[in-house]
Amino acid sequence: MIEYRNLRVALLGAGSVGAQVVSLLLQHGDELAQRSGAGLELVGVAVRDIDAPRTAEIPQHLLTTDAESLILGADIVIELIGGLEPARQYILQALNSGADVITANKALLATHGPELFDAAEQVGAQLYYEAAVAAAIPIIRPLRDSLAGDRIKRIMGIVNGTTNFILDRMDTAGDTLESALAVATDLGYAEADPTADIEGFDAAQKAAILASLAFHTTVPIDRVHREGITAVTIEQVDAARKAGYVVKLLAIAERLTDRETGIDGVSARVYPALVPRSHPLAAVHGAKNAVFIEAEAAGDLMFYGAGAGGIETASAVLGDLVSAARRHVIGGPGVAESTDANLTILPISSVTTRYQISLGVVDQPGVLASIATLFSEHNVSIETVEQTVAEQAESSGGGSAPGATLVIGTHAASEADLSATVQALGDSPVVTSVTSVLRVEGS
Ligand code: HSE
Repeated sequence: MIEYRNLRVALLGAGSVGAQVVSLLLQHGDELAQRSGAGLELVGVAVRDIDAPRTAEIPQHLLTTDAESLILGADIVIELIGGLEPARQYILQALNSGADVITANKALLATHGPELFDAAEQVGAQLYYEAAVAAAIPIIRPLRDSLAGDRIKRIMGIVNGTTNFILDRMDTAGDTLESALAVATDLGYAEADPTADIEGFDAAQKAAILASLAFHTTVPIDRVHREGITAVTIEQVDAARKAGYVVKLLAIAERLTDRETGIDGVSARVYPALVPRSHPLAAVHGAKNAVFIEAEAAGDLMFYGAGAGGIETASAVLGDLVSAARRHVIGGPGVAESTDANLTILPISSVTTRYQISLGVVDQPGVLASIATLFSEHNVSIETVEQTVAEQAESSGGGSAPGATLVIGTHAASEADLSATVQALGDSPVVTSVTSVLRVEGS
């Protein structure tokens, strides 16, 4: 039997993930020691309330409310309390005392990442965060290590399970957004206050982390363009299905060149978009997550799995724990976060995408020609047009002019040109309503 040196592991937080980390660490400690080359001694679990109910049993003697003392005696600190403070203070304290830190805290990394990575670099410690994006799915290490020799062109992720569940219910069960959200709440996917999920804040934090890592550039959360799913209607989802698309909330990180200025930079954005049914991301159902990567040499890759859940997220945390322990055994400084490319972060107006626009129009001679002219005047090229004559207009007899619905697909156009076009359509006397404007991604 090999005698390993023991590493002291402190855990901050015993919520659904923390309790599972304890449970797995206590169950599989010997195996993890063999893989790490060091014993992993859980020296304590800092909680706010010792008597709070837990989702897995934690030996009473490990629980403490004194996080600061626990941190000071640790070789590795796992932060699973979430939120900005006191998590930030605890992580800085741990790094400054030379401990490696593992965190699942996406909000903190997206907001204070550079400060934390700098603190780690100063003392030669390492900050691990595999669980911060898409929980169980290995995506941080593939981007940081496996793809370090390649150039990433674009990442498209379904990184929020709650919104994917809602959009999937709308698509497959015909639910409205409100009733799908109610089901998501009942099943425990959505929080009592679902704002962070449905308004895209959670996905935007993950987009910031992925963009920073993929493009070796600090991308702060406030530079991520964000649109949530609250304006998505069942009519849009139905129309998308008929046209061979599915609506997904995408987190996109992309290397691109601004057409006007020629500036080469990075775009990070979150919005609901039409994805062709033939795209691998269209097959991501329920609350599952997936990250699709387009790399110059590796080509297309997709990572799929559970993006939330106590034990699933604990898997990623324990993977980081083994990595941290191996580093302690081998010695040497941690690998600094690479931000040396320092690319310009481009605004949403630099992005070009295809769009699908649905309009109510009056059905009279010359209407299609005048709408086509509007598009061309704003530099937007039409790819497809589909017209449906509205039934009630056909049967309504005299009085108001007959109506029709137009669904217009465009070639790639700039955000600026597209919004000018939509504005002009809204002002046009032949357009009765602009019912939907959605970007098309992944084709
Ligand atoms: N609330 C997130 C989701 C999980 O629905 O995917 C944590 O990031």
